[in-house]
Amino acid sequence: MQRNPYFKDIIIRILIHLNVDSMKKQLSIGGVLLAIVFIFGNFSPDKQSVVILTAVNEEPNLPATPLDYENVKIPGHLLDIDSTDTGYGGVIDTMHLSIITDERATLGRVLFYDEKLSALENISCGSCHDQSLSFTENKPFSEGISALTKRNSMHLNDLGWTNRSGFSWDLEITTLDEMIVLPLTDENEIGANMLEVSAKLAETSYYPDLFRDAYGTSEINEERIVDALVQFISSMTTFNSKLDQAAANDFRYFTDEEIAGKELFSQACAICHSQGITFGVSDPDFSPVEIFPFLFNNGLPVDLEDAGAGEWNSEFENLFKVPTLRNIELTAPYMHDGRFNTLEEVVEHYSEDVEENEWTIFIPDGGFNFSVSDKENLVAFMKTFTDKDFITDEKWSDPFKLSSTNNIEGFSNLVLKPNPMSEYAVIEFDNENSNLVSVNILNAEGKLLRHDKTTGNSYSMYKEDFQSGMYFIELIMDDARSVQKLIVK
Ligand code: HEC
Ligand code: HEC
Repeated sequence: MQRNPYFKDIIIRILIHLNVDSMKKQLSIGGVLLAIVFIFGNFSPDKQSVVILTAVNEEPNLPATPLDYENVKIPGHLLDIDSTDTGYGGVIDTMHLSIITDERATLGRVLFYDEKLSALENISCGSCHDQSLSFTENKPFSEGISALTKRNSMHLNDLGWTNRSGFSWDLEITTLDEMIVLPLTDENEIGANMLEVSAKLAETSYYPDLFRDAYGTSEINEERIVDALVQFISSMTTFNSKLDQAAANDFRYFTDEEIAGKELFSQACAICHSQGITFGVSDPDFSPVEIFPFLFNNGLPVDLEDAGAGEWNSEFENLFKVPTLRNIELTAPYMHDGRFNTLEEVVEHYSEDVEENEWTIFIPDGGFNFSVSDKENLVAFMKTFTDKDFITDEKWSDPFKLSSTNNIEGFSNLVLKPNPMSEYAVIEFDNENSNLVSVNILNAEGKLLRHDKTTGNSYSMYKEDFQSGMYFIELIMDDARSVQKLIVK
């Protein structure tokens, strides 16, 4: 009988889980970690059954008073009905923002990062939705429990207000609640049996109190779990971007490049990518949101593996969600199948490689044919959509804390030198295929200070950007992940 190719992987994950946990977690029974792994059968994909019981008792680190989630201030320029340049024509949807309470979002934060929700206790929402990447992942497809996901993980920022009714790449899912039940219960994602999970959470030292603070009683059920997750995700807004600051000030802070990029974007891109900002739409009655509910096609070659919205309605073949481009700089790789590694490649596609089809009515056949400076300007403009505070804000971070010893599968030939840092330090590694590498710089407490990425084989850091102390440099490329200590004197 054929073995499940993921068998080895699952075992490795279990081992890593136990190993790392035994170092960092509080142990509940006299310091003894009880882990019983039963593996039945031949592990054929259809007969796979692994049961793992752990008596691990890891607790989240939460502040004594809840952090602020309720006071979401939507910038005035987004609400300005008269401003055709940056206003949202009054159709901004704050439904999910108005229901948020600090206690419920706090509970949502813990649930989002808690691997206890999954049957093998090895995966959480945070496994595929990483804060430092605006809650997406830096590989084309994510590793589920037994297989790769069909599509590229999606960023979660700004879902609470940019859109009320269209989720997933094919837009089949119409409410955020439903969108959250899906990965929670999907056998390849969290795979939770909600009754069992509720019982399991009730046994922990922290959930009964968190549920009581949030909902008045300590009862744990699916409805409350989903609601808390909806509130946590809805609170994720990126209003500290340069774009927002500039828009509130007539774009005075923009460079010439960014201004030129904005103009071009309004001509070529805004007709589809308009959520949150309706660039250059001169007719106030014209609401792209209503006319094109975020489902479109942008001239990529037809994906034979994935019909997009055609999967649930044959008339919508090859249509995919037009996601908000807020924080787009952070969410590579791009498109539903993660085919492009950089924004430059995305712009190149729109410029040169558009394949005409029945839907590409807003893009010239072949592409826009941008000049070199047009391309640079577009990228410069898209980078103003980045909210850097968002990816380091404690309120959206992992309360179980990132483990700095978690080397799953290291990079090959990794060298960090000089260490301690002189005027600068360089980290070098093998990257023959120019894969996308995420670089996270964390302080000694594990707080993320900076996120960056490269497709090269080295990354440089300069002393002027650091205070003296110890730092962790985390590198992630596909499944490889390494954490190096860097000393700055
Ligand atoms: C195994 C990886 C994985 C896990 C675990 C996971 N997701 Fe996702 N998530 C994805 C992928 C892939 C998509 C895109 C799905 C599609 O279009 O088919 C997605 C899409 C989403 C979306 C839709 C975003 C949008 O813009 O439409 C939301 C919301 C979401 N996930 C929330 C969650 C929550 C909450 C959890 C935990 C309960 C979770 N995810 C767990 C991979 C994952
Ligand atoms: C006709 C509508 C349309 C136009 C015009 C358009 N796009 Fe897109 N865009 C889409 C769709 C649809 C997707 C998702 C496609 C997919 O994944 O299959 C997308 C995806 C993207 C993404 C990747 C998003 C992600 O989260 O992975 C970027 C970046 C992007 N577009 C930038 C641009 C730029 C820059 C322009 C102007 C040069 C532009 N788009 C013009 C419809 C459009």
